[in-house]
Amino acid sequence: MQPGSARDAGGPRTLTLTRPDDWHLHLRDGAVLQSVVLDSARQFGRAIIMPNLKPPVVTTADAQAYRDRILAALRQAGVPDGAFQPLMTLYLTDNTPPEEIRRARQSGLVHGVKLYPAGATTHSDAGVTDLLKHCRAALDAMQDCGMPLLVHGEVTDPDVDLFDREAVFIDRVMRPLRQAYPALKVVFEHLTTADGVAYVREASGPVAATITAHHLLYNRNALFKGGLRPHWYCLPVLKRERHRLALVDAATSGDARFFLGTDSAPHSRGAKEQDCGCAGCYTARHAMALYAAAFEAADRLDRLEAFASLNGPAFYGLPPNEGVLTLERVPERIPDALPLAGDEVVPLAAGESLAWRLQAR
Ligand code: DOR
Ligand code: ZN
Repeated sequence: MQPGSARDAGGPRTLTLTRPDDWHLHLRDGAVLQSVVLDSARQFGRAIIMPNLKPPVVTTADAQAYRDRILAALRQAGVPDGAFQPLMTLYLTDNTPPEEIRRARQSGLVHGVKLYPAGATTHSDAGVTDLLKHCRAALDAMQDCGMPLLVHGEVTDPDVDLFDREAVFIDRVMRPLRQAYPALKVVFEHLTTADGVAYVREASGPVAATITAHHLLYNRNALFKGGLRPHWYCLPVLKRERHRLALVDAATSGDARFFLGTDSAPHSRGAKEQDCGCAGCYTARHAMALYAAAFEAADRLDRLEAFASLNGPAFYGLPPNEGVLTLERVPERIPDALPLAGDEVVPLAAGESLAWRLQAR
């Protein structure tokens, strides 16, 4: 669907929510961080910050230093202190020691540990080769101290079809993991399939999932409409329409296991438009308007607040934010490109029109 195709007649003119959070965000570092950080801070109170830098964020000290750089970028962008809180994560490796997990927990700054199966996606080469073989001590510590495991849920087996990698991950990794660690908090990140939705809905114990705006709005046809469109390419890749419908159903159901995570992942235009383009969609600038389009198309704008502002904090054991965010029904065109560290990034759905925008202050 087109984000702007939501019905315009008769609906509410403004939409005010408890200030939302983004439970899956790539902010990068250095000049790129400085270019993108305000896009998230304008809408969200907090965000779970992904650790796939080069080199990755593997220790609590790394996470603290990265957090300081994000806070400095926020200050530089004019964001008042405390208005946007980066919730840090560690990047799990085959060698993460249990002491590091405990140190991270005690710091109060690290809110999750990210599992990237080695080779699954951008900057995942330092990731885990065999979770239950190499990471037992870290997983024990995580289960023990209530540290959530944030999962990129795709197998990397080249013999498994790209479109099946999430479904196969459930059987090969998720089920054995959760059988061995039933009390471990697990977030199935950027869910993309009906299989994933069914798994999360039915699983016993502390399991939840984030869902991106692009997986709610588009199916895999978007990648090929009129030609090859690299700005719709992300991992896990967009799936068939029946999967998109299952995701919309989950997100708008009110089930507290599903919450907002944009997976906004900036890559320069040149890094995407080439013979081996990077995976990642940039959605941070228009994130809440994109989610509002998806919820309005399902006639469930009334459920957006639970998904965007309440379910995530409940799972992470945090209070909801105190402020609010207001969207207004004023059409806005997504620009063809946005500045990115002296270069440019093409946002998802560039050139298309959105029915909602952030209320001007
Ligand atoms: O599309 C993606 N981009 N998926 C990921 O898992 C990583 C991300 C990135 O860092 O660019
Ligand atoms: Zn991601």
